[in-house]
Amino acid sequence: MDGNIHTNASHVHNITLLAIESSCDDTAASVICDGKILSNVVAGQDVHQKYGGVVPELASRSHQKNIVPVVDIALKIANRSINDIDGIAFTQGPGLLGSLLVGNSFAKGLALSINKPLIAVNHLEAHVLAHLIDNPNIPFPFLCLLVSGGHTQIVKVNSPSSMETIGKTIDDAAGEAFDKAAKILGLPYPGGPLIDKYAASGNPLAFKFSSGHVPNLDFSFSGFKTAVLYFVRDKMAEDATFIDNNLSDICASVQHTIVTYLLSKLKSAALQTNIKHIAIAGGVAANSGLRNELQLMANNQNWTTYIPAFEYCTDNAAMIAIA
Ligand code: KG4
Ligand code: ZN
Repeated sequence: MDGNIHTNASHVHNITLLAIESSCDDTAASVICDGKILSNVVAGQDVHQKYGGVVPELASRSHQKNIVPVVDIALKIANRSINDIDGIAFTQGPGLLGSLLVGNSFAKGLALSINKPLIAVNHLEAHVLAHLIDNPNIPFPFLCLLVSGGHTQIVKVNSPSSMETIGKTIDDAAGEAFDKAAKILGLPYPGGPLIDKYAASGNPLAFKFSSGHVPNLDFSFSGFKTAVLYFVRDKMAEDATFIDNNLSDICASVQHTIVTYLLSKLKSAALQTNIKHIAIAGGVAANSGLRNELQLMANNQNWTTYIPAFEYCTDNAAMIAIA
């Protein structure tokens, strides 16, 4: 020993959090240690498929059934025991009340039992902050197009704790537009990923659907949904095999209409705010058409884009943990 006092980083206790997400139809848990995601477990719910949408009562029941095993697996994958956890984060809202209550009560009970703090997280802020998982140095301010099954917003993100919504949908969310178009085509819920899949082999310009006309940076999808409904109804009246014979082209056209509409508003927002750091978030950010067309627009507009990994786009608890 040389007698000097050495500081050693390993003396600093790492902060380990358990995060729980249960706002809609996915039961999710994640363990994070000093900003690094150690596990990210999601249990989906197939029970809603045949109903063409999430049935709130069934969602809460599934959360009740799944939450203990999901948390247990998240701890095991992270190689941590409940005694290693320094705090518990949970989704406070927005979301389905019964679903939120399951995660909320479970998190409260667990936090009380280990005598550790409880941290309430906003689901939408978490979708936006999911970018910090893979991009801890993302520059502020950036614009984020937040597109999910429940929300469609353009958010000006000034800092992790300061966000302004500068545009939003006045009716359906973009994810709902995908899901409702899919339902019209006879595809199971949630249809967004299936439209994406069939669109890959279709012609995006095969059919024309009108998109919403609302001013400013706001969105409307109800007219689009009606346009798809009437189009399909009329074509099927002429030829009952129309959907089967044209599924890829219809899906590609539906996807192209939604994506073009989203990006035209995003472009206006970028020009108005003079921000060139552009992010997308939420379940619809997993859409390959949106990802590709965003990249083309970015090249054209000199944007730097931030696109989260697939697993951090749709509902997950890693985003709750990082938030
Ligand atoms: O963020 P999320 O998992 O849950 C909500 O907070 O709503 O988003 C779910 C939505 C659903 O509407 C689903 O159809 C849509 O995201 N979605 C997609 C894709 N993956 C998920 N929509 C289009 N293409 C995809 N690949
Ligand atoms: Zn979500």
